[in-house]
Amino acid sequence: MEMEKFVINGGKPLTGEIEISGMKNSAVAIIFGTILTEDKCIIENLPDISDVADSLAILASIGAKIKRVGKTTYEIDTRKIKPGSSPYELVRKMRASYYILGAELGRFGKAHAAYPGGCDFGTRPIDQHIKGFEALGSKIDVESAYIDVDATEHGLTGANIYMDCVTVGATINIMLAACRAKGITVIDNAAREPHVVDLANFLNASGANITGAGTDVIKIKGVEKLHGVTYAVIPDMIEAGTFMVAAAATGGNCLITNIIPKHVESISAKLIEMGVDVEEFDDSIRISRNGPLNKISVKTLPYPGFPTDMNPQMCVLMCLANGVSTLSEGVWDNRFRYVEELKLMGAKIKVDGKLAVIEGGTVFSAAPVKAVDLRAGAAMIIAGLVANGRTEIENIYHIQRGYENIAEKLRGAGADIKLVTVIDDSDTMPIAN
Ligand code: EPU
Repeated sequence: MEMEKFVINGGKPLTGEIEISGMKNSAVAIIFGTILTEDKCIIENLPDISDVADSLAILASIGAKIKRVGKTTYEIDTRKIKPGSSPYELVRKMRASYYILGAELGRFGKAHAAYPGGCDFGTRPIDQHIKGFEALGSKIDVESAYIDVDATEHGLTGANIYMDCVTVGATINIMLAACRAKGITVIDNAAREPHVVDLANFLNASGANITGAGTDVIKIKGVEKLHGVTYAVIPDMIEAGTFMVAAAATGGNCLITNIIPKHVESISAKLIEMGVDVEEFDDSIRISRNGPLNKISVKTLPYPGFPTDMNPQMCVLMCLANGVSTLSEGVWDNRFRYVEELKLMGAKIKVDGKLAVIEGGTVFSAAPVKAVDLRAGAAMIIAGLVANGRTEIENIYHIQRGYENIAEKLRGAGADIKLVTVIDDSDTMPIAN
């Protein structure tokens, strides 16, 4: 069987420029958001990653017409889609596929889809999504692996919805469902992530009436119809943060371009605390490091806190610091599955529930390791870039879900990283990427 791996010969500082692509978590929300427009939309700056390809494939499978009209631009025509027909296998491949529920519900008053998949961080409940759909007037039926949402009897009506926890997914799903509901919906304790704002901007550009996105109270005044629009997805703050940490970890000097510096402020702040030089420009940021790294404490939190999706990458940097650092996970129950892999490369980390205590001064040694999830995979790449010798990373399909051309981008900054296709265990054949 064929399998892809990354092979890294580490020990080289990253230098030069790295350009950031469109944001995964915005792109997937906006792609499903086009369902509400019943029209042709042109979506620009879509990253070339498998989560985007899978989202587009789900739309195509329910009857959307999709055309690639530029390198990162797609025309999506959702006029003739058939609700409730998304294939189980595609929906199970990713988390964001659950946006099909909010979008179909908003347009047709009903939705039907499989339970979503995605990275394994312990339990990933969807009770807040369901609570929101119910508050808008839907009946929910969960039969084995499928969710059925139906508001056809009385239609969707705006409601006040208080989120019991800050959740990106439920905030987005309720926004999608409420856009065309009768009356006003208020989401209280809403997620404030930049991708929530990006989706609201896309929906408003299509004729929706959403205010407060980016704060913890979002108000959605239902409108009858949305129209087609041309819209560009914002840059990916987690991709940017990943390269910022990679530059710092390798003792490099990199300009990360096409970013919104405000979105990476919590990451910049921690890098500065560790002794990294961070220089901010209008739409780029320079990261450089010559000296040692200070130990720090990090707690991941919903935006504008330090992002949970930077937990594994930051952990690698903390391994390199002087002294003992602590990393406390404030979003997911089980985000430290990657620690066992990092230990294979020499990391000294103790995990107790949602807290990791990280002994600094690690000299990473190259080893064969696995990407256990998307951001964990990014962390293994950073450790591989720092380690002397040849690191091989398996299960890179996790990484390909969310990072566009990561090997090519890193090579552009001087790294020695290749994507190779492995046949059996003995026959390794490099292919272009
Ligand atoms: N939660 C509930 N009930 C719900 C929904 C969420 O209890 O109904 C809890 C979760 O268990 C978790 C917390 O709320 O403890 C936050 O979950 P959230 O809904 O915000 O996460 P998500 O929407 O499933 C998105 C990103 C993740 C990112 C989280 C947190 C997408 C497609 N995924 O997931 O991104 O970790 O927000 O910021 O937007 C990644 O990109 O690598 C990734 C995993």
